Amino acid sequence: MSVDLAPLVPYLSDLRAGRPLAVLTGAGVSAESGLPTFRGAGGLWEGQRAEDLATPDAFARDPVRVWRFYEWRREKVRAARPNEAHLALARLEEVLPRMTVITQNVDGLHQAAGSRRPIELHGNILRDRCSGCGTVTPAAPAPFETLPPRCSLCAALLRPDVVWFGEILPAAPWHEAEATAEGSAVFLVVGTSSVVAPASSLGLLAARSGAHLFEVNPEATPLAPLAEGVFRTSASEVMTAFAKALGAR
Ligand code: OAD
Repeated sequence: MSVDLAPLVPYLSDLRAGRPLAVLTGAGVSAESGLPTFRGAGGLWEGQRAEDLATPDAFARDPVRVWRFYEWRREKVRAARPNEAHLALARLEEVLPRMTVITQNVDGLHQAAGSRRPIELHGNILRDRCSGCGTVTPAAPAPFETLPPRCSLCAALLRPDVVWFGEILPAAPWHEAEATAEGSAVFLVVGTSSVVAPASSLGLLAARSGAHLFEVNPEATPLAPLAEGVFRTSASEVMTAFAKALGAR
């Protein structure tokens, strides 16, 4: 199926000439790599509550349950490969003078595809962080001596280096994402339900700052009414067509 890129066509030459493009991605971009999204049918939050698995309280109450959930997800992430959407975004970086990927995903698939420096808003599941001293290390492979594993420096419990509900986003990537949104000429929001703050506010921030805002998602989201154009199909189709239109090989 070919995608009609008409709404984006007026901006292609500006982007080639160096006007900044920003792309905010969510779980829908990795869905075609076989990783489940969070919301909707088959999503991670269907049949289990985020409050029981992805909050500091849940970790304090039942760290073993939380660890089992993240180990299960890590196994999926380790087995996943970038799909055409990740690859097209990486190719775009080679032809566009100024392009930034901002992601809510914790799976590292943008880097695996070749994106040089995606801004990770929610951390990365393939790292551990000590809940005591804060030391960050590559994720320890299971099986562990103890579950949850403990920090080799201070013996406090390790946790995945991701943002949980109720936690503040890491400051440096968040400020960089805000500045990127404010400075962008075109802002694409791809594969996210746009319901989780503060990432969900970036599209609005970009639009208010003068960016042309577009959504790529098979389903409508709360952001859609603010967008100049929407593409109601998969991330891989749209991003592949977009990369081709911009001359990415
Ligand atoms: P969601 O699961 O909320 O939304 C995924 C979106 O992707 C949905 O709107 C789908 O319609 C869309 N989608 C599905 N397949 C797609 C495809 N092939 N191409 C394009 N879009 C597709 O995931 P996020 O919005 O990323 O945070 O969720 C935001 C945050 O909520 C996550 O980072 C995570 C979660 O709880 C934390 O854990 C802190």
